[in-house]
Amino acid sequence: MASEKLEVSVDKLQIGDRLDMSVMVQDGIYTIKFFKGQFLTDDSIQILKESDVKKVMIDTRYRDQTLRPLHIKTIRTIDLVPGMKLVNNVYTDRGVLITPNSKEIDENIINKLLMLNIRKVDIQEDKRLKDNLYHVFEGIYVNIKKVLTALFKNLLAEKPIDIKNLLLSITDIIIAAAMNPHNLTKLLQDKDTEEFPLIEHSSRVAVLSLLIGLYLNMERDDLMHLGISALLHDIGKFKIPPRLWKMRVLKPHEKEIMNRHTEYGYVILSNIKKFDYRVPIVALQHHEFFDGSGFPTGLTEDMIDPFSQIVGLANYYANKIESADETDKDVYYNALIDIIMNRGTKFDKRITNTFLSMIGYYPVNTIVELNTGQTARIVKIVSNAIFRPEITIIKDANERKLDTPVLLKLVEHPEISIEKNIQVGE
Ligand SMILES: [Fe+2]
Repeated sequence: MASEKLEVSVDKLQIGDRLDMSVMVQDGIYTIKFFKGQFLTDDSIQILKESDVKKVMIDTRYRDQTLRPLHIKTIRTIDLVPGMKLVNNVYTDRGVLITPNSKEIDENIINKLLMLNIRKVDIQEDKRLKDNLYHVFEGIYVNIKKVLTALFKNLLAEKPIDIKNLLLSITDIIIAAAMNPHNLTKLLQDKDTEEFPLIEHSSRVAVLSLLIGLYLNMERDDLMHLGISALLHDIGKFKIPPRLWKMRVLKPHEKEIMNRHTEYGYVILSNIKKFDYRVPIVALQHHEFFDGSGFPTGLTEDMIDPFSQIVGLANYYANKIESADETDKDVYYNALIDIIMNRGTKFDKRITNTFLSMIGYYPVNTIVELNTGQTARIVKIVSNAIFRPEITIIKDANERKLDTPVLLKLVEHPEISIEKNIQVGE
């Protein structure tokens, strides 16, 4: 099949177009080379648009849907994970091929790219990979529960805690969560009855906290300590009579006893010297609220350790879900509304916004980017489909403002999805 060259203006380029010439442009202090045969992502098209280049040569055969690579995007090299597929060849800036396209990358390639200071690469998103990851994650979640069960049993019997296994599980959660956080929505909604309700709760709080941490771009070491803090935040409950754990309504003196789990947890965890200093702090502070209305001390704002703020929010959300009536169909919606109502009062705004976008929920007035490249504003949340709101499209895929915004009910358009938020609504 011979190539069919066409000269197009950079304004007319489409994602998935294939260059039929090499182009060199300056992006700030970096010189970027686009090679002949390279498929263009929205990131590379943007760079071309902002450069001095006016026209490029493309191979028009690739405008045919069957040849065109779908779901391609540019990501930072540090965000790569093994198993992703590269869309384009990667070269050094002298033009030496580092790794060819269509190759599934492994740790070695990622390290090589990082060492050669390659900042970004183009990857192909594989839907099947995402589906598989859900199962990977499910397996890990089950393992965490197993480890926690053993851990809690040891605690009850006053045997030493198996820190090595705990650390291994945490590492697994981080890796899986980093690969595809969105798969978690379903997992987090699974309810089961466990020997210890605390295990289900602690696993859920750990997963949510780690995702918030990932979305806040935390370092791997910090994520590890955050995960351990979250898994063990309620450990002080072992010093409280179990009958109190299960009661939905507590009398004031029972509540007082229950609230002491924070201080008990602090004492238990402070005695384990191998833990990061924040692990006992989170046990102590996870019920403190930003506005000072929490316990045990009534700390406010920055006085509350950042890890405790994250675990506190995850814990609050998990508690709302777990304590809801079985017949309540709107439990996830209600829990989210509760979080939104307390944004800026009980919870720090930045952490709350991160949590909301992570869970795939965008409040009214949030500006979002769609998978079609268009920009939209959320206008209405639909209570039985909270992740499929009503939106108005305000800009087209080329960021041109629409004269008449288009109203769309996402429930009626399964092919359209929200990719990310641009600005969270107030
Ligand atoms: Fe607690």
